Amino acid sequence: MTVTALIVAAGKGLRAGGEVPKQYQHVGGVMLLRHAVLRLQAHGGVDTIRVVINPADRDLYDAAVAGLALAAPIAGGDTRQASARAGLEALAADPPDLVLVHDAARAFVPDAVLDALLAALGDPANDGAVPALAVTDSLRRGTDHYDAAVDRDGLWRVQTPQAFRYPALVAAHRAAAAGATDELAIAMAAGLRVAITPGDERAFKVTEPADFAKATAMVTPALTSR
Ligand code: CTP
Ligand code: MG
Repeated sequence: MTVTALIVAAGKGLRAGGEVPKQYQHVGGVMLLRHAVLRLQAHGGVDTIRVVINPADRDLYDAAVAGLALAAPIAGGDTRQASARAGLEALAADPPDLVLVHDAARAFVPDAVLDALLAALGDPANDGAVPALAVTDSLRRGTDHYDAAVDRDGLWRVQTPQAFRYPALVAAHRAAAAGATDELAIAMAAGLRVAITPGDERAFKVTEPADFAKATAMVTPALTSR
């Protein structure tokens, strides 16, 4: 089985603020995108890593992956969905068996999350597998006062990488309407069977400025010295 990881890194990181998009900000002295690449390279199950970027950020990208021997980056689009689609289309000429679509902003995915995804796809009945954490806080609806309870039973906080059989995912993307926030939404709309595998708090997405401090606590010196 050939496994390609597609890291979507073409966003502007507006909520995180800063001089450059969040994936190019330094965490423990290393750009967030580089942490993401190193994590996936360290896992033996990923054969190829491709990164989808905003071509305007090419210099930042080159700095982020210096010395890591990656194939050329792929130009992304105006939405995450468009960026992922562009990445998937770029793989079509030499398609992998499995593709893992991953947010650059989730740079600290533990090996166990990847192990579980690949194991789930060992079952031919699954078209895909997506890591998630069960919701543990109470959920309530309301505007300025609470007005409804929401049953959290069976609700999940969905993470990435999201793993799929490549042909199934690219077909689902080609058929998808705009507005999907992740591959899972696109796969579900296409009727694919997607297993729930264990997520991990360490796979959190850097989104707000305060998340950089949290990310700094995740840095593994042995990995980032490469
Ligand atoms: N992404 C992308 N192309 C886009 C938008 C987002 O590749 N046009 C990527 C981001 O780089 C990020 C991932 O999708 O790794 C998740 O998106 P998000 O956390 O929303 O990042 P941004 O869109 O960059 O941030 P913001 O929404 O705060 O502007
Ligand atoms: Mg966004």
